Amino acid sequence: MEAQPATWAGQPTTDSMHYLNQAAGGLMPDSVLHAVSHYMQREQALGAYIASQQVQPQLQQLYARLAELLHCQPADIALTTGNTHGWCAVVGALPLEAGDRVLVTPGEWGGNYAMLRQLQARTGCVVEEMPCTPGGALDMAALQASVDARVKLVALTWVPANGCTVYDAVALGQLCARHGIPYIVDAAQALGHIPVDVQALQCDALTAPGRKWLCGPRGTGLVYLKPGFAARLQPMTVDHVSCPITPTGPVLRHDARVLEQSEASMALRLGLLAALDTAQAQGWPQRFAAIAQRATQLRAALAQVPGLRLHSLPDAPAGCGIVPFTLEGYTPAQVQQALLAQDIQVAASGMGYTPLDMQARGLTAVVRASVAWHTSEADIAALVSALQRLAASHTVPA
Ligand SMILES: Cc1ncc(COP(=O)(O)O)c(C=O)c1O
Repeated sequence: MEAQPATWAGQPTTDSMHYLNQAAGGLMPDSVLHAVSHYMQREQALGAYIASQQVQPQLQQLYARLAELLHCQPADIALTTGNTHGWCAVVGALPLEAGDRVLVTPGEWGGNYAMLRQLQARTGCVVEEMPCTPGGALDMAALQASVDARVKLVALTWVPANGCTVYDAVALGQLCARHGIPYIVDAAQALGHIPVDVQALQCDALTAPGRKWLCGPRGTGLVYLKPGFAARLQPMTVDHVSCPITPTGPVLRHDARVLEQSEASMALRLGLLAALDTAQAQGWPQRFAAIAQRATQLRAALAQVPGLRLHSLPDAPAGCGIVPFTLEGYTPAQVQQALLAQDIQVAASGMGYTPLDMQARGLTAVVRASVAWHTSEADIAALVSALQRLAASHTVPA
């Protein structure tokens, strides 16, 4: 058996950087690097196909691990290269027609929105925003009143990329289940950040990337499909794996793997497995609690910085790990650059990520600080004092 690296316990190396950019991509634990590089060596020595045959048990384990995390069966999981890959594969496979209504929230991910507008142009379906309360929560009563037989898809970006809020995905799932409306959850900023249980969500599909809150490598992701939902899809892209060739002709698979093709990076998949193993050994509940605690601390500390405005919506939970803000006198890109020069990493989140919410609130960009399970009080203190210095050096024009 392989010797484990010294840092197998899961602590990523953040010595030289205060990393507050988890929502872009989580720092991978050493176990991930080890799994990826070890497999690449194997692939170099044996060739890609024998190497992948040898790691079949581990690859099957990846489906099992993800199924455990989501509370479903391994056959309900398809592996992808990222969130968009899976989301577009599902939504693009729905038989939408002219006049069909597709409901989204103001926090919808810009990429999903772009895809839906393409579908709108192609099929004549109509993309509509769901009603929200002034606090930014879903207005379930108004939504209930507006639902009719023409609603053919409800798409929820559970935790929007700019961290404006966390929607009530369970209440929305209950409404969709009552009306038999297909319900897809974009959990790109949720999985690994907050508990996710597809049974409680009652969703038909859910997507996530591996690189964010799961701390896996870039180029990994997953789709969950509720049992039976695959049969309602007409995938745009299939191959001999998703649609095996039988003596009577090609037959689409009936499970989530209908969305997979044969070609994939086994190294990255093994990296994702290593990330999940590390997280599981640490305990997901402990990670969720650590993220919520640090996020609450970060919000409270940022609120003390002069000229800083938090941009979470009023009903957003204080424990949401994504904290959007602006600093008077600076653009978000300037704040990001000034912090980076001091080894503090945050994101500048533009209009393209959450176009509906940003437009509705007259925002063009926000600074996005996002915490990880390993974010320390020192990371928060470094960010806050750097922002205080920036705020102090801004001279208000006379
Ligand atoms: C909410 C949300 N959905 C989707 C995506 C796109 O994910 P990917 O780049 O893996 O396709 C992102 C990326 O930040 C996101 O924040």
